[in-house]
Amino acid sequence: MDFKPPFQSIVWNGDHVTIIDQTYLPEREVYLNLSSAGQVWDAIKKLKVRGAPAIGIAGAYGLYLGLKTVTETSFESFYSEADRIAEYLNSARPTAVNLSWALKRLMATIYAVKDQPITDIKQTILETAVTIHNEDRRLCKSIGEVGLEVIPDNARILTHCNTGGLATGEYGTAFSVILHAHHAKKLKQVWVDETRPLLQGSRLTAWELQKADIPFKLNVDSAAAYLMQQGEMDLVILGADRITKNGDTANKIGTYSLAVLADAHNIPFYVAAPYSTIDMDLETGKEIEIEQRDAEEVTHFGSKRTAPKKTDVFNPAFDVTPNELITAIITEKGVIKPNFKTNFEKLFG
Ligand code: MRU
Repeated sequence: MDFKPPFQSIVWNGDHVTIIDQTYLPEREVYLNLSSAGQVWDAIKKLKVRGAPAIGIAGAYGLYLGLKTVTETSFESFYSEADRIAEYLNSARPTAVNLSWALKRLMATIYAVKDQPITDIKQTILETAVTIHNEDRRLCKSIGEVGLEVIPDNARILTHCNTGGLATGEYGTAFSVILHAHHAKKLKQVWVDETRPLLQGSRLTAWELQKADIPFKLNVDSAAAYLMQQGEMDLVILGADRITKNGDTANKIGTYSLAVLADAHNIPFYVAAPYSTIDMDLETGKEIEIEQRDAEEVTHFGSKRTAPKKTDVFNPAFDVTPNELITAIITEKGVIKPNFKTNFEKLFG
């Protein structure tokens, strides 16, 4: 199926990377040029660029930007500087594995070309970052095509957070399935969870759906149960920040409650993600580090205070859905059903 997504959230521009600053959406489309590792770190930390695959891509360009001005002449000191910058970039956000995955891939590439002159190594780093970016575009397109097989006719799909072109190189993950279902005329309507507290659903997914001309309705997160009870949806499909070997899935806070609800209402619950989100180094979701974010995200709505001063807050950015609640995981290589561990090993080694 051939169609072009309506925007690019990350573009490499010769000596800097340009991103859509997602914190301004949906009101304004502000583009931000990032020319140093520090600026990339800040953009990831503050969610100017966000979504698991997108922060992997941004991190890869960030490592190149950090190294391009380095004057070290021996491989050993260049490599240790690369290691330091990679650690620094990786410290921006802990839960999505795509960031550390991209940085590890670049570090391995640097080591593999260690006998080349430093200028050539720098060029290889840039080429690998571009490869990671282009590869993600292809993977996301495939996820959309593969995912069509689980979409019934006239589908009413609930999604959570933002998994579209903003969160990836292009197309998205769960969003790519929605996009492909729309183009295949299989989609009736999308239910969009607003996704408290940072509203990735209402600010970003609704913006992307409008751009793609896809019919949707926005609902508060707590309306999902009622919608299911009323028989208003056929399936749930969302993305992932890290999937462990057994299929346990970390994704935006609220994902686990949706999985429990879907199970209680006998509604299929799908996760869509590329191989770069599957962490074969972790056995179960218990090992995933969950990012805790600022209290202000909960005590304020925009700049308006909505909780009394000195209110203690619990604000995890993600939760972990146990694999037993997941119907299948849609990857670029196919729709993977339980037993996830065995099937991941078969497909991804
Ligand atoms: O905190 P965010 O906005 O980066 O969280 C993003 C999500 O939870 C997405 O669902 C996930 O990264 C999948 S992106 C294709």
